[in-house]
Amino acid sequence: MAKYTITLHPSGTVFEGDSSKSILDSAVEAGIALEHSCKTGSCGVCEARVISSECNELDGGVLLTCQTMPSCSLTLEAEYFPELANIKCLTAPAKVNSILYKNENVISLGLRLPPRVKFDFLPGQYLDLKYQGITRSYSIASIPNRENTIELHFKRVLGGQMSEKIFSLIKENQLLQVEGPKGTFFFHNKKTGPIIFIATGTGFAPIKAMVSQLIQGQQLDRPIYIYWGNRSSDLFYDEQILLDWSERFDSIKVEFCLSKVEENCVGRIGYVQNCVLEDSVSLSDAEVYACGSIEMIDSAKSSLVNAGLDRDSFYSDAFVAS
Ligand SMILES: Cc1cc2nc3c(=O)[nH]c(=O)nc-3n(C[C@H](O)[C@H](O)[C@H](O)COP(=O)(O)OP(=O)(O)OC[C@H]3O[C@@H](n4cnc5c(N)ncnc54)[C@H](O)[C@@H]3O)c2cc1C
Ligand code: FES
Repeated sequence: MAKYTITLHPSGTVFEGDSSKSILDSAVEAGIALEHSCKTGSCGVCEARVISSECNELDGGVLLTCQTMPSCSLTLEAEYFPELANIKCLTAPAKVNSILYKNENVISLGLRLPPRVKFDFLPGQYLDLKYQGITRSYSIASIPNRENTIELHFKRVLGGQMSEKIFSLIKENQLLQVEGPKGTFFFHNKKTGPIIFIATGTGFAPIKAMVSQLIQGQQLDRPIYIYWGNRSSDLFYDEQILLDWSERFDSIKVEFCLSKVEENCVGRIGYVQNCVLEDSVSLSDAEVYACGSIEMIDSAKSSLVNAGLDRDSFYSDAFVAS
């Protein structure tokens, strides 16, 4: 096991990389949160450009910090998030407090953590859920609260190991284990223009948490757009919450987008990212938070950046399979 110096540009932050661990894991151990999401090499969120390295062949290239074990000292162009410095990732038991069928294909679980566990997180982050030997990631749909409860939304995935268990076996008071919080998908508040949330399916979960946080903190001075897409209208849930938000707060606009034409459809037809473009939302000083399928995220990033969004203002969590 060899040790190397990893320097982050432009912050100048330095930490020790370990040849037996990913750069991301070494950073997390040093209390430095680098941008990441899936940690499996699938989403690309942790991509960093190599500015210089002792092993020169890497210079100018890009690497995934979640997959790369260093073999020399490196300087990387990578942002880190001091907001997460005091948030500790921990493992804790969690009891099923409530089970709610939002529709045929989505279950919402309320989990209660023991009062002694201080499970701190930023709205938008996810956790890893462990149940009967299976571990999968789920976004937290709620905001921190005194009751120490957490809301998760599960999409039914046919033949899915965790999904089948959640839909067929889960009972109230069932004991599960959670590990988290994880990820860097949270409200960054770096710009002054519109905040555009786009989601597909249960990608609505972290968006619900982030908008709840903005409402609770009365941070409603910037225009907030929520675009939520599904294949058919029966897959939407919590619509009333969204409609209430848009009625109560002038700054919140909500759009339900269907990717397929439907008879008597409520909402509009089109992929979420195309709906944002159709509405000519000003992108030059906007932040975009996208969550759901990797296909939507890849397409949204390239089309919105092409239309004038600053690349660094696109934040995402892709629901990639483990
Ligand atoms: C950061 C992160 C946050 C996530 N948050 C949520 C969340 O809040 N709610 C949620 O429902 N899921 C979420 N996911 C996805 C979740 O972790 C699981 O991948 C999903 O529940 C399927 O797990 P499974 O064990 O049931 O299926 P698996 O047994 O892992 O897979 C079975 C089959 O289904 C396919 N598959 C896996 N996931 C999906 C999917 N999402 N859509 C379509 N096909 C799929 C696989 O490729 C495989 O062929 C998140 C994923 C990540 C990385
Ligand atoms: S590819 Fe590294 S966090 Fe997703």
